[in-house]
Amino acid sequence: MLYLENLVYHPPATPEPILKKINLKLAPQQLGLIIGRSGSGKTTLLEILAGLAQKTSGKIYWGDRELTPMELQYLGGIVFQFPERHFCGSTVLEELRLGHPELGRMQVKQALQEVGLEHIALDTSPYALSGGQQRRLALAVQLIRQPNLLLLDEPTAGLDWSMRRQLAKLLSKLKTHWTLLVVTHDAGDLLPIADRCWTIERGKLQSVEPATLLAKDPKINPVLNT
Ligand SMILES: Nc1ncnc2c1ncn2[C@@H]1O[C@H](COP(=O)(O)OP(=O)(O)O)[C@@H](O)[C@H]1O
Ligand SMILES: [Mg+2]
Repeated sequence: MLYLENLVYHPPATPEPILKKINLKLAPQQLGLIIGRSGSGKTTLLEILAGLAQKTSGKIYWGDRELTPMELQYLGGIVFQFPERHFCGSTVLEELRLGHPELGRMQVKQALQEVGLEHIALDTSPYALSGGQQRRLALAVQLIRQPNLLLLDEPTAGLDWSMRRQLAKLLSKLKTHWTLLVVTHDAGDLLPIADRCWTIERGKLQSVEPATLLAKDPKINPVLNT
């Protein structure tokens, strides 16, 4: 269980806090979805949860244990927005093994299988993959570390309609093993697979029922029913 208690982020240079007393509970093997406009604080929240930025106050627990930023780095795997722009391996194998040269072929194969890329040759250049495949590879790069919590920043941004649908299906499969926290400005494809949902506006988080949001927006396509 991920549990945030009154989490605040207020850098000295900003007049208002960027994250304001955020409270959130996310159970294991659930997908939590945070929806908010650009500039509402989504990426900042994920960076704090990934242990990459330091909160100002409040507490972050995994189960009943309060975690330090260093422990958060081990707990979470963050997939940034447009992760494919930051690939640095010259092959798929290299990309998956960056920073983890000890990982064997077995673990590499398993991570690729998890994201549906088992048919890709390990010596393929990451840049030769399609946009949707690159997004899957970026997920595999995190999954291979076996994090407890997957943090995804705008995972469907820039993908076409059918790739977004495929990615939503993949995420709903991944939540059978992992706990996922996803932030997005465009909830359309992800709402149908969300177990918990919040909106964020100028750093304030508010819990909403996914079903209520789905009912409100007739444009939202129940992706998993097709
Ligand atoms: N370290 C920082 N110092 C000052 N302002 C920041 C810092 N980090 C983020 N911000 C500001 O906080 C707000 C939220 O940013 P961000 O988390 O990137 O939003 P989102 O991901 O929802 O678009 C923005 O106004 C951004 O400019
Ligand atoms: Mg952002």
